[in-house]
Amino acid sequence: MLGSGLILGIETSCDETAAAIVERGARTLSSVVASQIATHARYGGVVPELASREHLRAIVPVVRAALAEASVTLADLDAIAVTSGPGLAGALLVGITYAKALAFANNLPLIAVNHLEGHIHAVLLQERESAAHAQNEGAPGPVFGTWDSTQFSPSSALALVVSGGHTHLFLAQPASGDPNGTWTYTLIGRTVDDAAGEAFDKVAKLLGLGYPGGPWIDALAPYGNPHAVPFAFAQFKPKAHLAGKAPARTKAAKTAPIARLDPHFLFSFSGIKTAVLRYVELQGLRAEAKARVSRVLANFRPPQTREEALALCPQPTLDLIASFQHAVVGDLMKKTFAAAESLGAKRILVTGGVAANHELRARIKSEAEQRGLRIAFPTLALSTDNAAMIAAAAWPRLLAQDFAPPELTADPSLALS
Ligand code: KG4
Ligand code: ZN
Repeated sequence: MLGSGLILGIETSCDETAAAIVERGARTLSSVVASQIATHARYGGVVPELASREHLRAIVPVVRAALAEASVTLADLDAIAVTSGPGLAGALLVGITYAKALAFANNLPLIAVNHLEGHIHAVLLQERESAAHAQNEGAPGPVFGTWDSTQFSPSSALALVVSGGHTHLFLAQPASGDPNGTWTYTLIGRTVDDAAGEAFDKVAKLLGLGYPGGPWIDALAPYGNPHAVPFAFAQFKPKAHLAGKAPARTKAAKTAPIARLDPHFLFSFSGIKTAVLRYVELQGLRAEAKARVSRVLANFRPPQTREEALALCPQPTLDLIASFQHAVVGDLMKKTFAAAESLGAKRILVTGGVAANHELRARIKSEAEQRGLRIAFPTLALSTDNAAMIAAAAWPRLLAQDFAPPELTADPSLALS
């Protein structure tokens, strides 16, 4: 059954059309990502209908490019893996339908991957890649042909998955005694409303900066005073009406119930957006923020460079941006380290688009060092959505012959547990 160990991964859950070829979950031969940023930028957020249309346009050339870059053909593959959820229904369906057709036509098994598991495997892929190099160091023969992932015994970790759609804490553990290298996941905490990346995007939008907002806030924050505005996150207290069931109103709630989670590990990022808006209005920053927004709307052209953005933002706005980022990073850290302490976790993985944030990386690293914990991030390219992480997450499934049924369909609120 196992031949080349090559898996084609396909990812279309949100606004990136991505395909990648990964060998044995440990070596990336190609990773192609077609971003839809230009399409959605003028609306300040992802428009689901446009995302589906763009995926339809991009999926065939992106998959062909991934095969060509890896110098392989469909006949060389052992399997095709595709994100089946969570994400935008229409966007997911494009990837799933194409992957199904490709698998059927080429007589290949199809593997369904949870997008959140993919983000966790972005870090594990890097670790396996390094372990494979170390294992083969000095060996004369093919470096990866002999790579045996079952020889690699990674340790369990607390994983913070923090992106535009998710803010989740999972305890990720290698399944004990499983020769296939399967992982199990236990939900420890999550947002009850907006994701952290969503807060970055919304604050950037209200300040008239570009989309996605995270990279803009990240780039401008070093120019402001992070202590200028004392944003605070109240400790989350479960409300009586939420007890025993998920609040169906919120997106995050649909992906996993909060009822049994420790409230110390719950996040909430919808309030800080309102706090930023209030501050903008009270401090008289509204007029200049509005001017930036209307300039963007008139030209469909947000600032293109850090210098352009800096020239548009007076010091109080930069202070606000720095304070906002400082507060969000502080809250992510506080709950992540509290969860690590409570679980006795010795290792933390931080992944998802917001893991690209420089302040988050620097502060988490320094705190982890002080606490004697190991910390791992994906590279910047692997932090945001990509398909290499999907192909990597599928490898243990291929070993276990855990294939998707022919009736596989999109599950926009698929939980990981
Ligand atoms: O993982 P991802 O590509 O897609 C989702 O699964 O959501 O994450 C995208 C999110 C966006 O909200 C974006 O603003 C945020 O990640 N992001 C950042 C940075 N780069 C991307 N947030 C903060 N700092 C960054 N450098
Ligand atoms: Zn993602």
